[in-house]
Amino acid sequence: MKVFLCDNRKILASLTAELLAKQVRQKPDSILGLATGRTMESIYAELVARYKNHGLDFSSCTTFNLDEYVGLHKTNKQSYHYYMNEHLFRHINIEETRTHLPDGMAHDLILEGQNYDEAIGKAGGIDLQLLGLGENGHIGFNEPLSSFKSRSRLVVLSPESLEQNSCIFDGNINAVPVQALTMGIGTIMESRKIILTVSGKSKSSILKKFLEGPITAQISATALHYHNNCLVLADKEAASELTTRHILDHFMLHDPELKEIERMLP
Ligand code: GLP
Repeated sequence: MKVFLCDNRKILASLTAELLAKQVRQKPDSILGLATGRTMESIYAELVARYKNHGLDFSSCTTFNLDEYVGLHKTNKQSYHYYMNEHLFRHINIEETRTHLPDGMAHDLILEGQNYDEAIGKAGGIDLQLLGLGENGHIGFNEPLSSFKSRSRLVVLSPESLEQNSCIFDGNINAVPVQALTMGIGTIMESRKIILTVSGKSKSSILKKFLEGPITAQISATALHYHNNCLVLADKEAASELTTRHILDHFMLHDPELKEIERMLP
């Protein structure tokens, strides 16, 4: 796991977008794993700008999103389908048939999870998976106590996630669907490359627990310590509780891969 710290949220979004853009330029038919949440909004805005101003070409890319609420139709404004269209897909040159999210309206939700993994496999596996970090350490909707080998599946959301995401449902926790479909931790771990982006003071405590360990079933993201190509990007607010900060600063000064990332800064 490598960690790159950015001065602020804006630089973090721009750098994350630039790393995604680099992937698309190097491999135009990339299979991208995408995420939702507030952290991703500015990243997608940066990607849209790169499409509009610099012709970044998404026409051969295929995308698989991490998750979707159960029971929300894709036209529902609170669905992740709607989120992705609003923040990214409708602004760039990607065909709808190349974009995938689990179908929260599927008649057979168990089968939908299995089919989702199968579709990822058939596409050739994910080249680059983008992740956010939930305040309880979830990745996708893999809540605490999820198996590190879990596959894409139907899950029940934790009370913390219902609370955290109630803001999208006018602050009404009872309006948040209790179930979701999510890519499994095992599925995420098969991605060839992973970028986890973490921003803001509200994430400082969970970033510390995730990065500094111990690896635990209580924090799903700690499974990423077993991935051999995972880059964590965080802003200084999110990094404010780290006790290993001096080590990370030292690595940033001397690690060639991190130096290369530094050269990509806006
Ligand atoms: C939701 C998503 C996660 C995302 C998390 C963080 O719970 N299912 O995939 O990482 O939100 O969201 P935010 O960036 O809004 O803090």
